[in-house]
Amino acid sequence: MKVLAINGSPRKDGNTASMLRMALAEIEAAGIETELVQLHGKDIRGCIACMKCWENKDGHCAIKKDMLNEILDKMVAADGMLLGSPTYFANVSTNIKSIIDRAGMTALANGGLLARKVGAGVVAVRRGGAIAVFDAMNHFFLINQMVVPGSSYWNLGRGLAPGEVESDEEGVLTMQNLGKNMAWVLQKLNA
Ligand SMILES: Cc1cc2nc3c(=O)[nH]c(=O)nc-3n(C[C@H](O)[C@H](O)[C@H](O)COP(=O)(O)O)c2cc1C
Repeated sequence: MKVLAINGSPRKDGNTASMLRMALAEIEAAGIETELVQLHGKDIRGCIACMKCWENKDGHCAIKKDMLNEILDKMVAADGMLLGSPTYFANVSTNIKSIIDRAGMTALANGGLLARKVGAGVVAVRRGGAIAVFDAMNHFFLINQMVVPGSSYWNLGRGLAPGEVESDEEGVLTMQNLGKNMAWVLQKLNA
């Protein structure tokens, strides 16, 4: 089994990455393979509504110039996924929005490429807007017929500068419990 984590922050090894690693540590402790992909420096363009995914039905987005299809292939190959986003004006980061729209539409156009995988969103936030970010990612998982585990709080951690989230005690606990719950669900589904 494998869990893919995507850090959608333009900042490498920032708060979103820290939080993803906290959850991944628990998933690894349960014996599940993990991979963290960080999208800093990557420019994943938005959906252009060409609807070619519905014509081609080849499991890929028709825009080939960026790494979206590479990410989609990794999602399809994984049993579970964590999408991590910083809070940007109470919304997801640009790259996460592009993944939601393009991977989401391609998965739907191809008969549900992500159905019954396990998925959870992880949000870094300085102060406000994290719930909207969490909701946006949950909408992606749920319309793709995925199974979404919860935690002991909504999946957010507070911090501004890189690493600050490590001092958010409840945020750390939330990530640890999320990782444990995701591993538990994956093991039940794959028993
Ligand atoms: C363009 C931009 C917009 C932001 N908007 C918000 C916001 O709406 N609410 C908030 O609490 N923090 C906001 N922040 C702060 C980040 O969410 C916060 O620093 C987060 O920890 C960054 O995660 P990272 O280290 O993974 O990049 C914003 C930061 C940037 C650069």
